[in-house]
Amino acid sequence: MGIMRNIYILYSIVLSVLCGALLLPEANEIITDCSQDYLKNVLMDMSPKTTTMDLSHKFTCQPQNLDLSPFSKLKVLILSHNRIQHLDMSIFQFNKELEYLDLSYNCLRNISCYSLLALKHLDLSFNDFNNIPICQEFGSMSQLEFLGLSGTQIRKSDLQTVAHLSLSTIFLGLKHLSYYEEGSLPLLNTERLHIVLPENADYRFILHNGIHTSKTLEMTNINMDQFTSQESQKNPLLESPTGSKTSHLLLRNVDVPWQEFFQILQFIWHSSIQQLQIQNLTIGAQSEFKFKPFNYSNTLMKALKVEHVTVKIYSFPQDIIYLFLTHMDIENLTISGAGMPHIIFPNYPTKFQHLNFANNSLTDELFVNTLQLPHLKTFVLQRNKLEILSTVSSFATKTSLVYLDLSQNLLQYADGKDCYWPETLTTLNLSSNKFIDSVFKCVPKSIQVLDLHNNDIRTIPREIADLKALRELNIASNSLTDLPGCDNFQRLSVLNIEMNSIISPSLDFFQTCQEVQSLKAGGNPFRCTCDLRNFINLGKKSQGLMIGWPDAYTCEYPLELKGIPLENVDLPEISCNTPLLIAVILIVGLIWTVVIAVLCIRFDLPWYLRMIAQWTQTQYRVRNVPLEELKRTIQFHAFISYSEGDSLWVKNELIPNLEKEDTSILICLHERHFIPGKSVVENIINCIEKSYKSIFILSPNFVQSEWCHYELYFAHHKLFHEGSNNLILILLEPIPQYSIPTRYHKLKALMAQRTYLEWPKEKNKHGLFWANLRAAININLSESGKMNKSQTMSELLKES
Ligand SMILES: *[C@@H]1O[C@H](CO)[C@@H](O)[C@H](O)[C@H]1NC(C)=O
Ligand SMILES: *[C@@H]1O[C@H](CO)[C@@H](O)[C@H](O)[C@H]1NC(C)=O
Repeated sequence: MGIMRNIYILYSIVLSVLCGALLLPEANEIITDCSQDYLKNVLMDMSPKTTTMDLSHKFTCQPQNLDLSPFSKLKVLILSHNRIQHLDMSIFQFNKELEYLDLSYNCLRNISCYSLLALKHLDLSFNDFNNIPICQEFGSMSQLEFLGLSGTQIRKSDLQTVAHLSLSTIFLGLKHLSYYEEGSLPLLNTERLHIVLPENADYRFILHNGIHTSKTLEMTNINMDQFTSQESQKNPLLESPTGSKTSHLLLRNVDVPWQEFFQILQFIWHSSIQQLQIQNLTIGAQSEFKFKPFNYSNTLMKALKVEHVTVKIYSFPQDIIYLFLTHMDIENLTISGAGMPHIIFPNYPTKFQHLNFANNSLTDELFVNTLQLPHLKTFVLQRNKLEILSTVSSFATKTSLVYLDLSQNLLQYADGKDCYWPETLTTLNLSSNKFIDSVFKCVPKSIQVLDLHNNDIRTIPREIADLKALRELNIASNSLTDLPGCDNFQRLSVLNIEMNSIISPSLDFFQTCQEVQSLKAGGNPFRCTCDLRNFINLGKKSQGLMIGWPDAYTCEYPLELKGIPLENVDLPEISCNTPLLIAVILIVGLIWTVVIAVLCIRFDLPWYLRMIAQWTQTQYRVRNVPLEELKRTIQFHAFISYSEGDSLWVKNELIPNLEKEDTSILICLHERHFIPGKSVVENIINCIEKSYKSIFILSPNFVQSEWCHYELYFAHHKLFHEGSNNLILILLEPIPQYSIPTRYHKLKALMAQRTYLEWPKEKNKHGLFWANLRAAININLSESGKMNKSQTMSELLKES
């Protein structure tokens, strides 16, 4: 004990120097970060109704006057990772509802106690207390479930105060440990005791006392260099652990030489412990492999789980160590993440039921020697280097395996090899291997859950044996191009086929797979065309059937729809249904025809069209005839020939309308411009020749008039001789062909060509008629006057 005292004094000195050193360089921050203003700022943003307050990593030193009284609703307060040195717990007296107070990782050396009756979780671990800070007041906090403590010295007298409290967890987070009084821990009354030891602390008394304290014991940082351990004469691990309480022991970060590990196991072997879990085991470099016999008898041990093993020695007798472990012959054995290239079993039938060798380097070698594991139910060989599936199957058939995990290996199935599986096997995990379609020929018939995700399967062959019991099939991340039918697995209820190459799933699946309750098919490159309509409708309708709907189901093709969720793709019935589409086109066509027919009959559409065509033609012609040439001989815009019978119309309608807008239009009329003394024929010819156009008013009257016919003859003559199209025929009233005398063949020919303007009976058409006529004769005759602008189309239409 004297040595302990000295160590303690040394520790105390080191400690105070350390804590001081940490504070000194930050003297400036002390002023800023611990000032009243800083505190006010930190608290200012928080509403008085706040229930949770995280003030961790906020103060680099002792906060002055931390006032939390306004926050009467506060339930959770985290003050960890600060530099708090003293704490008066009465500052929380107004936070009557405070349940959770975390003060871990500070520099606390003393606290003034105050009884917080609502407190359930109080964490004072990882502080600088000398003695475990036990307040009388803790004794009255009846709600307390979790108590975190720390102290450089652990004494019975300190722990006595909380001995009567029944807690669910006591956590000892120790920054330093200088003294442990034997028998202290068993005073505590807790379901679970978790101790985090500082580096190189003597764990042996604590382990020994710990397994006499709680049902569950967790110890983190089990390491101690050899020399320290030799200092104390008495080794508690050599004593027999009679009267121990712990059934579940978890050791984390264990770094000891082999002989010490051996000793720990032997100690535990005869204790009350049933489950031993070791995480991060390092077998130290000072290991000696002098094998003392291990006493396997008289144990309650059922399960040993060792995860993440590092061996710091280059060569060690592996086979002996493997046999040392497998000789344990307990229900469960897990050795994972140990880089084991091999493992050996005793050559007699063992009692192992659950073996887990995940994350090692095991190869098919494992099955070369017959393994006698008749009771084996679970075998996890995930993440090893196995290659041949039929080899595994020949081993399995001699067991009563129920669950076999072969995922993340290099497994293949060579087509044609026989596969035998025990009939008990219901779950087989073959994911992340190198299987192709043929793997289905090597699947146990009794299988209920089959995981084949992340392989290279393209189709599920039709000729495979019926998998009558299969309920769950995971075939995600392969290269399937369609949903499978359920002809070979009638009972399938869960299918995962996401991340394959399904472009357009056929609905065969939904017809044959009657029992499917969950389908995961997202992440496939769906082509959003009509073929997908039924699938999309199913997705929308079947609530809960398609897992991941709608987010995981998006279009890949066509490119313009890429990334759009299937749910939002609009494929209307009409664009996908050809007969319907044809019917609609026909109906629309029919409606158009009817509309056009009505327009033609009711509003004489063709007449308007013809008028517009003529008007355009005239415009074109006017633009193309050289003006100068015309102007030389021509004095009038038009000569009008008509029969006396139509003179009323000519005078009242034609002339006023032609001259209406444009007074510069000159019309040659025989009664107005005939030169006396000349013969009638001469006058007519004269008039025709001086006019740009000749207008003939055709009517039954016209046909009767001999003169008119002459006029027409001359005008037509001019037309042929000079090549200018100077004839305008206006059909005032229809003339039946038979009523034209045969000798007037010229008139007949012209009528037959139908190159005349018809005088429309309807008043609303007159505007367009006149405009057209005016445009036909419009030409600039006066030298000084400007060329008359031809009317624009829109003006024309307005008039009409
Ligand atoms: C052994 O392993 C099986 C399967 O992993 C598990 O269900 C069982 O609880 C384990 N038994 C013990 C004692 O840990
Ligand atoms: C198969 O193993 C993988 C890990 O390799 C795991 O993610 C998956 O859940 C397992 N499948 C089943 C059905 O247990």
